[in-house]
Amino acid sequence: MSATVIDGKQVAARVQEEVAREVAQLKEEGLTPGLAVVLVGDDPASQVYTANKERTARELGMHSVLHKLPATASQDEVAELVQRLNRDPAIHGILVQSPLPEGLDIDAVVRLIDPLKDVDGFHPENVGRLWLGQDGLVPCTPAGVMRLLQEYGVDPKGKHAVIVGRSNIVGKPMAALLLRAHATVTVCHSRTVDLKETCRRADILVAAVGKLQMITGEYIKPGAVVIDVGINPVPGYKRRIRGDVDFDSAAEVASLITPVPGGVGPMTIAMLMANTVKAARLQCGR
Ligand code: GUN
Repeated sequence: MSATVIDGKQVAARVQEEVAREVAQLKEEGLTPGLAVVLVGDDPASQVYTANKERTARELGMHSVLHKLPATASQDEVAELVQRLNRDPAIHGILVQSPLPEGLDIDAVVRLIDPLKDVDGFHPENVGRLWLGQDGLVPCTPAGVMRLLQEYGVDPKGKHAVIVGRSNIVGKPMAALLLRAHATVTVCHSRTVDLKETCRRADILVAAVGKLQMITGEYIKPGAVVIDVGINPVPGYKRRIRGDVDFDSAAEVASLITPVPGGVGPMTIAMLMANTVKAARLQCGR
């Protein structure tokens, strides 16, 4: 292996220390940042994610609540909860975990969240702000990737960044952030015909497709920076996860690479915590 492995756990711990310090300072000034996490239904992965988010916020000194609604909850019930949280002055960040159970419309729910409390950065107003280059709340996973690049001295300016995947949660906001950082950005997806060749032109390759280890060393330009956003279960193993990148072959070719687990994953929660503090400041003019 020739690549340096990016330590997402270490950077995430540093971000969380910064957040804890900011929270302590704000509390001295009489402002306790508050996060509300909403879980609808009993998807096992979502249960783990939301519990981690609620606990981390609490550990960093924030006010933190997890609202659980049954899978049978109606659109109106979810909407009413969001609107109540919008009005709650102790809550500065609202996150509705996706996916919602079948029959519920996540887009309609997200549109109801006060954009100033939208710590996921998914509200159309925040999406628009991001593409317009205006200050706002930025989706956590792409924000975490930008922080990792910064921590490891990678300046996207003038570089060719290739993103594989065009989801609203990762691919699209990742493109906006890299563009804002002056990269030349290509977004690939399932209909891209020359995927391997396009990836091989990347100075920075971001894999966010959700396909286990599909990006092998053959997709990577020697010396490229490889960021793996994938979290895929490994068939035949109960708890093993791997990324969209085949780590062993990619690490032979890349200069820097994120592992899975321990790369981008820990950054998502850390940036959510940072967003909650930012949201509290935005709402209280600090
Ligand atoms: N489901 C998977 N990732 C996310 C995320 O970042 N935010 C929310 N709300 N739901 C998710």
